[in-house]
Amino acid sequence: MTTDDLAALVKSLDLPAKVRLLTGASAFTLADAPAIGLGELRFSDGPTGVRGLKFAGGRVVSLFPNATLLASTWDERVLREVGALLAEEAMAQRIHVVLGPTINLHRTALGGRLFEAYSEDPLLTGRLAAAYVRGMQDLGVAACLKHLVANESETERNTVDSVVDEATLRELYLLPFEIAVEEANAWSMMAAYNDVNGVAATEQQHVINEIVKGEWGYDGLVMSDWFATKTAAAAANGGLDLVMPGPDGPWGDALVRAVRDGGVDEPVVDDHLTRLLLLARRVGALGAGRSWPSSFPDPDSPVRREQLTRLAASGMTVLRNEGDVLPLARDASVALIGRHAVETIGMGGGSAQVNPPYQVSVAAGLTSALGSAVTVVDGVDVRTRPVPARDGFLVDPVTGQAGIRVTLYDAAGAVLEERFCPRSSTMVGMDDDFAGPVASARLSGVIASASGLVELGPMGVGDWTVTVDGSPALDYSLRASGHGFGEEVLTPPLRTDRFRVSPGASFTATVTLAAPMGLFGLIAHPAARPTVDVIDEAVRAAAAADVAVVVVGLTEEQETESADKSTLALPGAQDALVEAVAGAARRTVVVVNAATPVLMPWLSRVDAVLWAGLPGQEGGHAVAAALLGDIEPAGRLVTTFPAADGAAPAWSVTPVDGKLPYTERTFIGYRGHFAGRAPAPAFWLGHGLGYGKWEYSDVRLVTGDAPAITATVRNVGSRPSREVVQVYLRPVEPDEPVRLVGWTAVRVAPGESARVVVPTDARLWRRWDPAGSSWGRLADGGSFLVARGLGDIRATVS
Ligand code: BGC
Repeated sequence: MTTDDLAALVKSLDLPAKVRLLTGASAFTLADAPAIGLGELRFSDGPTGVRGLKFAGGRVVSLFPNATLLASTWDERVLREVGALLAEEAMAQRIHVVLGPTINLHRTALGGRLFEAYSEDPLLTGRLAAAYVRGMQDLGVAACLKHLVANESETERNTVDSVVDEATLRELYLLPFEIAVEEANAWSMMAAYNDVNGVAATEQQHVINEIVKGEWGYDGLVMSDWFATKTAAAAANGGLDLVMPGPDGPWGDALVRAVRDGGVDEPVVDDHLTRLLLLARRVGALGAGRSWPSSFPDPDSPVRREQLTRLAASGMTVLRNEGDVLPLARDASVALIGRHAVETIGMGGGSAQVNPPYQVSVAAGLTSALGSAVTVVDGVDVRTRPVPARDGFLVDPVTGQAGIRVTLYDAAGAVLEERFCPRSSTMVGMDDDFAGPVASARLSGVIASASGLVELGPMGVGDWTVTVDGSPALDYSLRASGHGFGEEVLTPPLRTDRFRVSPGASFTATVTLAAPMGLFGLIAHPAARPTVDVIDEAVRAAAAADVAVVVVGLTEEQETESADKSTLALPGAQDALVEAVAGAARRTVVVVNAATPVLMPWLSRVDAVLWAGLPGQEGGHAVAAALLGDIEPAGRLVTTFPAADGAAPAWSVTPVDGKLPYTERTFIGYRGHFAGRAPAPAFWLGHGLGYGKWEYSDVRLVTGDAPAITATVRNVGSRPSREVVQVYLRPVEPDEPVRLVGWTAVRVAPGESARVVVPTDARLWRRWDPAGSSWGRLADGGSFLVARGLGDIRATVS
């Protein structure tokens, strides 16, 4: 079908029929139009798992390692494989469009959604994103680059105005989008919630029409982020093609009227629909339709287990390794300590969440590798906000499976549906297909085996009655605070109380809904023990073992959509726990289970640090494989770790009078640290020791259109290892930051050498000239730094 054929299909529809197709039909589907051969298009979130059509409690799918962990491989083949695997996960559910990758940059380490995005560096982000898109689209599933643009933090996310000068926008924040369009032609993009320089991202004539569709010649579809579209005419004229979700929204009749009143030209509508039909054609939803392959690996199949373990472990990053304490000796006795050891966090919060078949904790993973040599000790509390019951603490009263039972009622009290919820929570009102709204719900679980003091309570907006076995019923209301868009869905209000229970106690909460949509659940966990007791137990275990492994980290309270962090400090008393263990243990290894930078005040007192990201469903097996060296944790950091709160070139995420000025311009992360705009960081982007040791020699510049650097790298360690040779350009212009211009990875056996060629990327030589509104070029005469992160420069070539 040619472009003319698509235009003819568009012309065959009247205006209301065209406009109807330009708003979603439901939360994650588009309307079909049999008259023109258009089938239903199905979307799913998917940076690190294809959740399906339901926001929560949907189908069981594979949970991949998070984006920063995948990106830490610095390996386009890995991201290509991930794109292909996600396409398989999508095809298994007949999903046509996967809403990823997230390619906003790590402007400040406080950004809540950094875990979903690859890096602070635009070249690394763009190239890895392009690889992911190729892997996915080669199988006929569309990727969606998000969120266009300048969407680097979550505070006031639906209204914040990111104030970014044109050069910074083009050289930094648009560059990953440009690369992923140029190299992989991503078939869709998502316009962000925020404003950019006073104009909503969904109405960005300048960004969408002039730059993306105009200068880059982009022929794909631009959809809005969910509920982000505010207007009809301005958004349609600004280049937005599709409003999501539906069926309601600001277009519909208003857009029809705007066309009839002359506010929007009909060819503008036609162009939006042509792009939608082109997307449909690309994914096989137009015309004859596609035949979907019928069999794919299950999320818990051996093949997925192998893939997910390997992908996670190979991105893990050795930040410190004094005396080569890592890899761990197999005959060592290990005290494995920490809440993150027993409740390893496999994913961040918000729309990137999926419903995985299982999540392997580090405790389970290391115990399965080393058996009784491992003593597991729970750690200090790491959350301020309790979460719905996990790990079988509650079971379904009907089936006895880990989870809860939820019954939904309409206003007349008739049962609409009874569901089993394995994650002890459920979404109501977002993607239900009942005839009328849900008015009330009953949530129930049985306390499986715990006894003594426990904390129990409900989560969700409404008026609650809570009953726990024989205790008197508690009645109270929970309401959203009003801060934060989408709070009832992402961070609903909750309350817990302490009860003394015996195994088999029943826990029931009924709620009359006070909002049309929201997440509801039951919280249940043992009441916290005093911190001194927890630390004392850890110290005794550490002193008795050959090596203590402490697993610390963040949870989806920090690594989440819809909220930013206020500090990089580890939550709770985790630092005190590490200090105490390090004081008692013969050797101390810290595993950091977090996607983004954390502060490590104890760094000099521990022997080794392994950064493990949010490693997905196979997390515990992957950490064990990395600690033992079965898979080399060959990662290199994708973002710079500041040494203290505030000690970074860009920090605050709090808008002032609604505006968030990007005053650091292109000097984010390592670029700003290197220019002396912030104190030396704890770890630079690109840092990572792996299990090899490297000597560099014979570093040369090969000039030409695109200069390249060649170098010989020799593995002088005792294990095979993968080295990532990084090349940075330091321009002569004092107002231009140092920047990554290329990298090449090579695997080398111990004692062997390899000659490596690192092509540099010409897009990093460009310099936007605001006066001429055009690209210029950096002056010749800068120097290339060949480095293992800018804290370890091995050669400088002029
Ligand atoms: C997020 C998007 C996501 C969408 C659909 C929004 O809240 O910002 O990244 O794709 O929800 O779940």
